[in-house]
Amino acid sequence: MNNFDIIQFDSIDSTNTYGVKNFDKLKDKTAVSALVQTQGKGRFNRVWICETLDNLCLSLVLKPEKIAHIANLTQYMSVCTCKVIETYGLKPQIKYPNDVLIDEKKVCGILCESVLKKNIIQGVVLGIGVNLNMPLSLIEKIEKPATSLNLLTGHSIDRQEFLEKLLKEFFSKYQDVIERGFCSFEQEYLKRNNFLGKTVYIQQRDNTPKEQYTAIAMDKNGNLVVRTNEGNQKTIFSGDLMF
Ligand code: BTN
Repeated sequence: MNNFDIIQFDSIDSTNTYGVKNFDKLKDKTAVSALVQTQGKGRFNRVWICETLDNLCLSLVLKPEKIAHIANLTQYMSVCTCKVIETYGLKPQIKYPNDVLIDEKKVCGILCESVLKKNIIQGVVLGIGVNLNMPLSLIEKIEKPATSLNLLTGHSIDRQEFLEKLLKEFFSKYQDVIERGFCSFEQEYLKRNNFLGKTVYIQQRDNTPKEQYTAIAMDKNGNLVVRTNEGNQKTIFSGDLMF
């Protein structure tokens, strides 16, 4: 049985920042959520907008005893999020490494921050933002194509219900992921991927990517394997995919 604590804020700068700052005080598997985030953080120092009520802003403070597969937690979270979204009759897909998209538009972002003490990893704060109830006017202001579950289902989404479903899903197989890593959810990840077989570019931070590849497989550790235009295979360990 997995027991977890939940701390809920009405408004906070960022649930991830709170998790990192209070990491030592918080128990393993503490979930920190907020109705509104005023300084939400995205990957590569981007901003994550969560200024209207009833979206999901959640960070999990995780202190697993084994850390070998800790990097796979973001991919695992993307699979769990897809499974919950599917209960609303929608068909989400995963863009490597962990973006969740519906009809090619981003609906969820995941940011994992490691917490180190004297260069030794103590655990992670795994943050997830899901657009549950965003007004169209705000969605249209986001630079990259984005969407929100309320716009796709035609009704508002109960935030608390979504949160509870996601926590239940995540902790149901969390220990298996800690023990076995990507292998433990590989098929669930692969069947929802939207990138294998496609021509892709890899974006590192805000650099404009130049080289073009074909995404051909995922290796057993959850890294992306691509083919270069010269026909060589290369493993990608970090970065975002662009099509
Ligand atoms: C991304 O796609 O760039 C990742 C976005 C992650 C956003 C979530 S919202 C909850 C948690 N708190 C933050 O400040 N960021 C993450």
